[in-house]
Amino acid sequence: MLALEWIGQQAVLAIGSTGERRPIDPVLVGLLARLGEWAAREELRQEGIDISVDSLDTLVQLGVLETSPGENRATACGWHPFDLDVLQIQSIGGVAPRTKPPPPPFRPAFEGRRIELPRGALPAMTLAEALSRRRSLRRYGARPLSLADVGVLLEHAARVVAIQTDSNLGEIVYRPYAAAGARSELELYVMANRIEHVVPGLYHYEAREHRMIHIRAHDKGGAALNAWLNDAMGQTRKGEPQLVLVIAAVLERLFWKYGRFGLTLAYQDVGCLYQTLYLLATALGLSPCAVGAGRARETAKWLGVDELTETPIGYFVVGVPEADLA
Ligand SMILES: Cc1cc2nc3c(=O)[nH]c(=O)nc-3n(C[C@H](O)[C@H](O)[C@H](O)COP(=O)(O)O)c2cc1C
Repeated sequence: MLALEWIGQQAVLAIGSTGERRPIDPVLVGLLARLGEWAAREELRQEGIDISVDSLDTLVQLGVLETSPGENRATACGWHPFDLDVLQIQSIGGVAPRTKPPPPPFRPAFEGRRIELPRGALPAMTLAEALSRRRSLRRYGARPLSLADVGVLLEHAARVVAIQTDSNLGEIVYRPYAAAGARSELELYVMANRIEHVVPGLYHYEAREHRMIHIRAHDKGGAALNAWLNDAMGQTRKGEPQLVLVIAAVLERLFWKYGRFGLTLAYQDVGCLYQTLYLLATALGLSPCAVGAGRARETAKWLGVDELTETPIGYFVVGVPEADLA
């Protein structure tokens, strides 16, 4: 905690953690009031907060500010200070102090109608062939995706494989894709555009039970997501994909163990899931494409979840290839 005292005309900064008290340049009072938000030195100067390097040094010595070496070079390389901060958190890594019991690894079930998904053997294509054939494909035929293919795709990419209970960490959930700490923070939502025997709409994938639960029929939100994905996939896209997976992260499951490092881990976990989906979809003869851009707020609203509790961070599009039409 920081306290600011005025002794006559002199501002004195008291540091709660060390008990240290240091006279500071009054202009730093303005800076401290602005520290909740990022601002470049030039912007601050325009607001009348003209800080000398010596004054900044004082705050560094007091442990109020941290320096990041080579920041000018970083800016020249295209780094934004926020992104450098994320990198810094990643290099610190670590484990957060745990004051609460671990959050459950499964969200409360939705109320809607359940669709038990078929299970099936892994496609026969060898790993070598799937790796060499894998491409992002963005042209889709009109025929619906079979429910059998949806079942096999989700079963071998995302179902719960095993659960272990640990007295400190709670339930540790293993899935086919690797995930940091096996915290199972990723929740999958299925936007079914054209799936055999499935009413078009939005579903949640229950990974433990390997089934989909209906959330809502196609509506304006679904149409908006389809239109936005169309833009994100550029000019080569043709037709509407049969299925879109929306990947949301319950970050609390990671934050509980890893603190702020959790967001970076969630992005890495999505990468593992993407590649697993790519290889399986390839082996099934489908057209897969990851979409990295995001619309977390709009998508969360459409899913009917709170964006801070369950945050959409990835999209994976799967279709039946255009040539299938022939
Ligand atoms: C994290 C990630 C994000 C991507 N985002 C998009 C996207 O927003 N739009 C798109 O059309 N393709 C996207 N792609 C697909 C890439 O464009 C594609 O992987 C790349 O062009 C290489 O082609 P290939 O997958 O056929 O090897 C993404 C792929 C990844 C892995």
